[in-house]
Amino acid sequence: MKIAVVCGSFRQGSYNMMFSTNLVERYSMRYDMNILPISTLPHFSQDIEDNPPDEVAIFKSQIAQSDAVLWVTPEYNGSIPGVLKNAIDWLSRVDLVMHDKPSIIMGCSTGFLGSVKAQLHLREILFTNGLKSPVLGGNEVLIGSIHKKFDDEGNFTDNDTLSFIDTVMDHFDDWVKKHKNCKDID
Ligand code: FNR
Repeated sequence: MKIAVVCGSFRQGSYNMMFSTNLVERYSMRYDMNILPISTLPHFSQDIEDNPPDEVAIFKSQIAQSDAVLWVTPEYNGSIPGVLKNAIDWLSRVDLVMHDKPSIIMGCSTGFLGSVKAQLHLREILFTNGLKSPVLGGNEVLIGSIHKKFDDEGNFTDNDTLSFIDTVMDHFDDWVKKHKNCKDID
């Protein structure tokens, strides 16, 4: 299964990016997982949506070619970061690459609530008409106090959470396969 990972932070030292990298390494034997760059995407504008810059065209085609998308989001002021919304707005137009594409949401914050508000907003956004992406229910991966959960080499050290994520990924795997089978019947 090919899983595109979209992370809502690309700052140097981003905990969400470090967490995303840990996930890619942990599941590399099981999935073809790649973190797609969103830092080079221009601001969305309808003026250029029909003939977008290469960065956008490549991003959209990588999403189109994936079986599912894993979103890893920080929380900014109770929602998702603008850079992530910008990437999503690109995906919501013209060729509608997210339609029927299964999604799973995870996120990390330095606060206690682990990006819960951002994740709720992201879920709503993914359900809108331009996206129409089914999102795995339950299985919430909300990681608070994220700044305390890496060693000096950037390894995620919360083993209880990693075991939980293993179970979540099993559920996601089953759910994506069921979704694909349903589509094949059509
Ligand atoms: C934050 N942070 C934050 N945390 C949170 O739990 N709820 C929030 O609403 C916000 N709001 C917020 C706004 C802005 C502009 C910044 C820069 C930060 C803190 C946030 O969780 C923390 O900075 C994370 O480390 C951001 O993720 P990355 O960049 O480390 O992946």
